[in-house]
Amino acid sequence: MIKVEKDFVQNMFSVRGKVALVTGATGALGGAVAKAYGYQGAKVVMTARNTSKLKELEAEFKAEGIECATIAADPGVVAEVKKAIEFVVATYGELNILAVCHGYNNPKGILEQSVEEWQTIMDADLKSVYIVCRAAAEQMVSQGKGGKIVVTSSARSKMGMKGYTGYCASKGGCDLMIQSMAIDLAPYHINVNTINPTVFRSELTEWMFDPESAVYQNFLKRLPIGRLGEVQDFVGMATFLASPASDFLTGGNYDATGGYWSN
Ligand SMILES: NC(=O)c1ccc[n+]([C@@H]2O[C@H](COP(=O)([O-])OP(=O)(O)OC[C@H]3O[C@@H](n4cnc5c(N)ncnc54)[C@H](OP(=O)(O)O)[C@@H]3O)[C@@H](O)[C@H]2O)c1
Repeated sequence: MIKVEKDFVQNMFSVRGKVALVTGATGALGGAVAKAYGYQGAKVVMTARNTSKLKELEAEFKAEGIECATIAADPGVVAEVKKAIEFVVATYGELNILAVCHGYNNPKGILEQSVEEWQTIMDADLKSVYIVCRAAAEQMVSQGKGGKIVVTSSARSKMGMKGYTGYCASKGGCDLMIQSMAIDLAPYHINVNTINPTVFRSELTEWMFDPESAVYQNFLKRLPIGRLGEVQDFVGMATFLASPASDFLTGGNYDATGGYWSN
């Protein structure tokens, strides 16, 4: 008898009924992940620092029948993150999925960037990820039911770029930190993985999508899939890594680059 359970296979990509916290929810990727989880029947708590953008999202999602709530918090401030986790538990009873989707960059050459500016990038893209993951893991461990942590890293975690000493270092650190975290949390059945995207459409990257631009043309030379990413391209991996289908996967850095990493 082949040991594949019908019930498992038929529901393995489901996040229905799960409680998810999404950081950077007001951003392009965070908003897409939050909406995708919500469309699939998860209860979604969205967080970012900007309250008014969060409230707009909450209204939009609720109008679509998504069960959701919002809380403003800076992912780099321990006390604010603690409050956000307490809010999730007070609102929906538990926390099952953490999707880390916040981030920041301020590209400058090493000779132009101050140490303080570099540190700001490291804090926004690495220290804050540690703070949020640690707080979520504590909550998940206390519940004793495992959990899923999905962190948005970058294709830049494994390759340098002009003006990116802060960003590449933070994302490279993020990949290794998540691998170590995965080992620490495996005994508690908490899976920790990163998604590593190349360019996806956002307010900041919109200009790169101009087909006439040299940047776009250059990217396409390295992109076998023939186009840059749309946010909808991101949500499949974010769901997979939050669902039972990925129960055996932990400490992974998953390619969401349209083949850029292979080329
Ligand atoms: N889009 C891409 O092409 C791409 C490619 C590779 C990797 N990524 C990574 O994917 C993640 C999301 O990117 P995105 O394109 O969705 O970004 P985005 O649209 O610019 O949104 C960024 C989000 O992070 C929050 N944020 C901004 N600065 C922050 C800071 N200093 N500290 C904490 N939170 C901050 C923002 O909300 P508040 O300002 O309200 O807090 C917002 O919700 C980031 O980690 C990014 O590095 C994106």
